[in-house]
Order: sequence, then C-alpha cells, then structure tokens
Amino acid sequence: NSVRVFAPASVANVAVGFDILGFALDSPGDEITVSFSDRESGGLKITAIHGADNKLPLVVEKNTAGFAAQQLLRHLGKEDLAIDMEIHKKMPFGSGLGSSAASAAAGVMAVNALLDHPLSKEEILHFAVLGEQIADGAYHADNVAPSLLGGMILIRNNEDLDVHQLPIPDDLYAAVVHPEVEVLTKDARDVLSDKICLKQSIEQGGNLAAFILGLMKADYDLLSRSLKDVIIEPQRAKLIPQFYEVKNAAISASALGCSISGAGPSIFALCKGLETAQKVGAAMEKAFTQAQIENQLYISKI
Ligand code: HSE
Repeated sequence: NSVRVFAPASVANVAVGFDILGFALDSPGDEITVSFSDRESGGLKITAIHGADNKLPLVVEKNTAGFAAQQLLRHLGKEDLAIDMEIHKKMPFGSGLGSSAASAAAGVMAVNALLDHPLSKEEILHFAVLGEQIADGAYHADNVAPSLLGGMILIRNNEDLDVHQLPIPDDLYAAVVHPEVEVLTKDARDVLSDKICLKQSIEQGGNLAAFILGLMKADYDLLSRSLKDVIIEPQRAKLIPQFYEVKNAAISASALGCSISGAGPSIFALCKGLETAQKVGAAMEKAFTQAQIENQLYISKI
C-alpha cells in the first residue's frame, strides 16, 4: 500500500511578524508518495525526485523531506522498516515561499499516514522543523507550521514550538507573485542589522498586536493599518528589483497591505475578497512584466 500527500507553500514572515508569523497558500506545494517496500535492506530510501532538475540530494540525511521522515521513524522505533519515498517538487526553490519547509512537512505527513497516524500533526511538527533545519541551519517553524497545520500560525517561541492557529476572516485572500530573480536566504539574512531602535520596536509591536486583533475581529481596516513592517522590509527591499513599484501597484489596486514573502524575492499582498485579490495580482504581475521580469502569480484563500 502507498500514500500520497500534499503540503503547500507558505508566506512567512507576514511583514509584521518576522520569524514568528506565517500562513499557508492553497498552491503551489509539494507532493510525496511513500510505500512499504519488499527490498532486502531496511530503512527509508528516496527512490526519485521529480521536478527539481537534479538539484536536490537523494541521500536521506541530506534531504529535508527524507531527514524529517527518518527522524520521525526513529522516534517511533521504526527506522528499520523498508519504506520508499518519491518526491514531486511542484514549486520553485529559493522563492521565499517555503519550498524546503513544504518538502519537510510532506515527508513527515506521508510517513505518519503510511503508519496509520500514530501521532497528531502537532506532534510531528518537531520532526518537520528538524528536516527544514537541514536546508537553512536554523530551528524555526514559521514556514513549516503553516505548511503542516494550515491557516495562519503565530509562533510565540520557536525553541518550544509554542505555536497557535489564528482565526481567519472569511474574505481574506492573498495574491503572491514570484519573480524570476535570485535572492539567497543567506544574503537576505546577512543584510539585516542585529540592532533595532526603541521607536521602531514600539511601532512594530503595535502593528503586530493590532494585526492579530484585526484577524480576531475580522476588522479589515485595522488589518490594513497594521500590515506595515518598519524593520525588516526597508532593509531587504533593495534585494528585490521593482519592489516598491510592485508594492505601489498592489496598494493602488486596493490591497490591504503588501510586503516581502519570507526572505524574498516573492511579494505578497493581502486582500479583501477574491475579485480584489485577482485585480491586485494582475497589477503586481504587470509591474514586474513592464520591467521585463518574468513572474508567476498565485492567488489563495487564506
Ligand atoms: N522568516 C525567514 C526570513 C524565512 O524571512 O528570513 C526564511 O527562512
């Protein structure tokens, strides 16, 4: 018997919540198939990776999905079971859309499902975060948690995985555009100063608290006023060509707010209603296309 699962892309940070706030998209995402094997040698084996142009390792310990799944199997005392894993990469890497996190989440989900769900999604989160750590060295759940649990997730503390699902207003949509330019996560983190001034901290704290309240009250005006990142976005904007043109186009087309998705180069806008999200997405696409930058648009209900 075999199991096939899907784990979606995610936007994290959501502007005001650097490393602590993320949401899942409907698409794109990764798919993973796992099945019991009758090969002699036991253990987990990655038999194929599709859609990655040979850029991802087949070695289980070096692969985010493989390592995450192996850690889960070890925890369950089942690491000797012969299991084959096939990975279908259906999203770009280095996009700021949580590609490695989607693979890690799909890896643990698939193995947990194959074993008939011995653990809950909350319990397998730790193993998915261990998998993503292979890709970027840090133990953080802002992409993995939404990819695995869905919706919008607040992470009070990454070490303890103190994660909380936030309420989502009925009409909240995201338009996300991925431009074909390269921004390395390492560069996007190196560019950040490790000092912030008190005035910025107060402003960001107020915006984050008000953004959460806006979600709880389905208050779109409050969401719009508070979706303003005064710390990270101004430092990273220069890494993304046309960032302010695309952001201005989104705001002019009635987006509630617009910022960098994760470490970039993708840019997301939150919108009230599907029609507005489509209009905003088209305006963002146009701003990139006018600058001869190829891009891909994704629209999602959050
Ligand atoms: N929250 C992270 C960042 C995402 O913005 O750097 C990349 O892993």
